[in-house]
Amino acid sequence: MRGIILAGGNGTRLLPLSSVGSKQLAPVYDKPMIYYPLSMLMLAGISDVLIISRPIDLPQFRRLFGDGSRLGMSIDYAVQEEPRGIADAFRIGATHIRGEHNALILGDNLFHGANLPSLLRRSAERLNGCVLFGHQVSDPERFGIAEVDERGRLVGIEEKPARPRSNLAIPGLYLFDGEVVDIAKRLTPSARGELEITDVLKAYLDEGRADLVWLGRGVTWLDTGTHESLLEAGLFVRDVQRRQGTRLGCVEEIAMHMGFISPDECYRMGTEMRSSPYGRYLMTCAHSYDRLPASARVPEDWP
Ligand code: G1P
Repeated sequence: MRGIILAGGNGTRLLPLSSVGSKQLAPVYDKPMIYYPLSMLMLAGISDVLIISRPIDLPQFRRLFGDGSRLGMSIDYAVQEEPRGIADAFRIGATHIRGEHNALILGDNLFHGANLPSLLRRSAERLNGCVLFGHQVSDPERFGIAEVDERGRLVGIEEKPARPRSNLAIPGLYLFDGEVVDIAKRLTPSARGELEITDVLKAYLDEGRADLVWLGRGVTWLDTGTHESLLEAGLFVRDVQRRQGTRLGCVEEIAMHMGFISPDECYRMGTEMRSSPYGRYLMTCAHSYDRLPASARVPEDWP
């Protein structure tokens, strides 16, 4: 399966913070925001990733991850000249997708929860069309919404409805088969001039090939698009990390656990950052990796 991170947009809700750089590079506590969606893809077993961003921001993403080989991955980059909607990612990413199954994650979505990686991997294995996730929220009018019947089956999808028919928001993480590129190419822009992801999902729903997977209460989903939510996400990460002594969205550690890189390689990256607690954490977890019980090496309950 191939991965796409959409890290475009002008981040106008985060001005003036976003005037000096990409929103998806803003710090969420101790690391750039994009580490969190990238780690989600990695935990789903994806090592081929395309990052889509504004021309002005792309060099910084490249500086951060290079060609991905340090993480044992392949990371490629593509430009989105203007924000034209989420579904534009499939047009831009057509050659990366190569007709294969793919996962799209938005660069400002942060997930945390038990068994999320295995849920993703299971959903990917039985993919027939597309998989969207549903997560209960208190402010559904801010999101794409899944409408379900009394048996919990998906019957409708709406983008930011004024009067939502459910409180089941659709987070910015989706799985698709290779047909998504053709579907995106056939789309016409919505009233707000965008190629809407919800129109792609509706096309699959019309064909009876859209699978809704509920993210239970054990999953936390944070979006980081406003000053308030960005701060809340940072505090959430800090609190969990401080309490557990672990790190969320730590891409080097995850690369090691996924077998993309060796503990030695993880350790070396730690030494390069040894003056920060993040670097020292990497050194410690690489050092103790061999002593971990096998069950702790399978990152089922990460990130
Ligand atoms: C986008 C999608 C929406 C989805 C949300 C998740 O909205 O259009 O369907 O629920 O991401 O973060 P945006 O946040 O770009 O306005």
